[in-house]
Amino acid sequence: MDNNSPKIAVIGAGVVGMTVAKIVQQELRNTNITIIADAFTEDTVSCVAAGIFRPGTSFKGPTKEITKKWINDSWYFWQDILKTSEAPLAGLMPVSSYIFSKENYFVTRNHLIEDLVPIYRSVEKDELKLCGEGWKYGSYFSTIKIGCDRYLPWVEKSFIEKGGKIDVKKIDSFASLLSKFDLVFNCTGLGAKMLCGDHDLVALRGQVIKVKAPWLKMAFYGDYDTYMIPGLDGVATLGGVRQYDSYNKDVCKYDSAAIMERCCQLLPALKQAEVVAHRVGLRPHRVPVRVEPEVVDGVKVVHCYGHGGYGVMCAPGTAMDAVRMGVDFLKSNVRSKM
Ligand SMILES: Cc1cc2nc3c(=O)[nH]c(=O)nc-3n(C[C@H](O)[C@H](O)[C@H](O)COP(=O)(O)OP(=O)(O)OC[C@H]3O[C@@H](n4cnc5c(N)ncnc54)[C@H](O)[C@@H]3O)c2cc1C
Ligand SMILES: *[C@@H]1O[C@H](CO)[C@@H](O)[C@H](O)[C@H]1NC(C)=O
Ligand SMILES: *[C@@H]1O[C@H](CO)[C@@H](O)[C@H](O)[C@H]1NC(C)=O
Ligand SMILES: *[C@@H]1O[C@H](CO)[C@@H](O)[C@H](O)[C@H]1NC(C)=O
Repeated sequence: MDNNSPKIAVIGAGVVGMTVAKIVQQELRNTNITIIADAFTEDTVSCVAAGIFRPGTSFKGPTKEITKKWINDSWYFWQDILKTSEAPLAGLMPVSSYIFSKENYFVTRNHLIEDLVPIYRSVEKDELKLCGEGWKYGSYFSTIKIGCDRYLPWVEKSFIEKGGKIDVKKIDSFASLLSKFDLVFNCTGLGAKMLCGDHDLVALRGQVIKVKAPWLKMAFYGDYDTYMIPGLDGVATLGGVRQYDSYNKDVCKYDSAAIMERCCQLLPALKQAEVVAHRVGLRPHRVPVRVEPEVVDGVKVVHCYGHGGYGVMCAPGTAMDAVRMGVDFLKSNVRSKM
């Protein structure tokens, strides 16, 4: 490393920031990279998520093509890790899933991944009786799940081994920070809104219950955002809620009760499952997700935030675009540090 190599900061240590840092390190070997954040692993929204690879229709990039590309690139990024013996350490596992509805056939389909995942099919009549009563429509699909409780420390460890630096602090103003770096990646999730107002960014409040259910080997989805998703350590995630523009980070006992009742209706065996934790997370919802370069106070910044309910699965695709923009940005003649 020489003193002329660019100094790069990644703000944010959630799944987006960590993945950006990992890819920057791969693409630009001779650089100083510093991750700056005030919350890590358990304290990020990323760790509340079950992390299943199943996008909703509210996930949008600037165009349909870019959305599809982000999803495709993400899928192959995860597949590359899944092929290695590191997969369990990185929190990755294959998972198959049923999605049922009493009301709507289309909610059981998913045009964004039907051509990507190994299996996506409508269920047979007898499969509708697998859990609970009265299901009219259903699909079966195979996908993957990324547990950020393992993925984030796994990335952090290799980032540090390769010379990356971690700076634990809350940024209250970007002015001082910017003068120290040649390129800054803004991966602050909902933090971006709190900081100084991107009004297109809205919290989509989520709450889940983590329970011990090592016997649960598949994921199940029902109506009203009801889902149960198995995990590597035998801890399943039960959900959920999706409350628009709600910023309450406290556990709501009524939400817990509703989640438990809806999940037990699908799988009564969950009544006996030991509760490990109740967690709340504010999804950073923005349409479209913001991945773009901007010169801020004379410094090159690439924004990568606003992934809503799909930031775990789609972090890699958006991060690859952000890093590509960052590399071009460094080469460009836009004057920085004026
Ligand atoms: C209940 C629930 C279920 C979900 N399920 C799924 C799922 O199944 N699949 C899926 O793909 N996604 C899911 N998500 C969505 C996913 O969790 C988010 O999209 C993703 O975590 C966003 O990642 P992020 O890195 O942008 O944000 P975060 O994880 O919030 O990280 C933001 C980082 O920025 C830092 N930061 C912010 N502001 C500042 C500041 N001023 N100074 C210093 N540091 C700062 C924070 O400390 C933190 O490190 C779910 C979310 C919830 C709540
Ligand atoms: C960045 O690299 C230079 C040159 O190798 C080194 O002197 C400096 O300590 C590094 N800074 C950080 C923050 O790693
Ligand atoms: C998806 O990504 C893979 C791996 O990067 C690539 O080979 C393939 O062409 C992509 N497919 C589409 C439809 O973009
Ligand atoms: C990061 O994004 C937020 C939201 O737009 C903005 O308020 C903040 O200034 C950005 N940070 C940088 C360094 O550009």
